[in-house]
Amino acid sequence: MYVIAGVSGNTGSVVAHALLEQGQKVRVLVRDVSKGDAWKARGAEVAVGSIDDEVALAKAFEGALGAYLLLPPDPGASDFIAQRLASANTMARAVSASRLPHFVFLSSIGGQHSAGTGIIESSHNAERVLGATSAKATFVRAAYFLENWGMVLGAAAQAKLPTFLPPDPPIPMVATKDIGLLAAKSLLAPPAGNSQIFELSGPRDYTSRDIGAVLASLYGRPVEVDAAPVEAVVPAFTSFGISPNVAALYRGLYAGIAKGVVAFDGRGHQVRGTTDAEAVLRGLGAGKR
Ligand SMILES: NC(=O)c1ccc[n+]([C@@H]2O[C@H](COP(=O)([O-])OP(=O)(O)OC[C@H]3O[C@@H](n4cnc5c(N)ncnc54)[C@H](OP(=O)(O)O)[C@@H]3O)[C@@H](O)[C@H]2O)c1
Repeated sequence: MYVIAGVSGNTGSVVAHALLEQGQKVRVLVRDVSKGDAWKARGAEVAVGSIDDEVALAKAFEGALGAYLLLPPDPGASDFIAQRLASANTMARAVSASRLPHFVFLSSIGGQHSAGTGIIESSHNAERVLGATSAKATFVRAAYFLENWGMVLGAAAQAKLPTFLPPDPPIPMVATKDIGLLAAKSLLAPPAGNSQIFELSGPRDYTSRDIGAVLASLYGRPVEVDAAPVEAVVPAFTSFGISPNVAALYRGLYAGIAKGVVAFDGRGHQVRGTTDAEAVLRGLGAGKR
């Protein structure tokens, strides 16, 4: 049986679906019991608890062969790095207490660095803390989500593509579907040794111009890239209601991407998914009238 966190989200839902489709036993971890109903109807067990609740987590992990874990975003955090380190420590204690044999943790490109990556520092900390447990560890260092472009589809429909990404070089991007599929596969095949790292990107890397070109073809008219400097990140993100602390960490992320720090280091298994930008953007509704 496999425990899956984040089942109402992008990647966890794919992991749970993929395992259920293969006839595997699944226990979904939800904070709100009603979010487990649809999974129960599909034959999954439901465990209720937060990643910040050690007792509930350890109970959810009991008897499991593996668990899919992630550190969910929290746009309102006042000290995101400290809060996510506390969550990672809680998860680690629950992993040890329950003697969970293996987990797959959703980390990030750039997760090898302790600094210079902004919000990704939380993934680095989690790798360190979870990697020190007795469980076998699979870290999926995922590229920039193609789904991130969903936030600017409204502007793209008006022929502009706002972005804080540098115009060049192309950077790795990946569909959350491919993350979920790799995570499901990895749960069924734990590493022979103590740990393994996957560096996961999509079928090709993209510049923001490439994404603009895909959107132009979906909307049937030109879409112009509107690149803003990293200095504009904090005012823009706080204007969307994101806390100043988290906004500053996003500025650090975009600065790290521009400096080439948020990159794969080649020490993990390099994997490319099969879902391209067009499939993701079409799925997000780009081009629909
Ligand atoms: N965006 C990127 O480019 C990028 C790149 C690399 C890695 N990542 C990583 O990917 C993560 C997001 O993954 P995702 O897109 O699959 O998630 P998501 O769609 O944002 O969903 C988050 C999930 O976590 C659950 N959740 C939130 N707080 C929780 C808590 N305290 N305890 C238990 N469950 C909780 C949510 O459930 P509820 O229904 O209860 O809210 C939801 O199911 C990021 O946090 C980051 O670490 C992102």
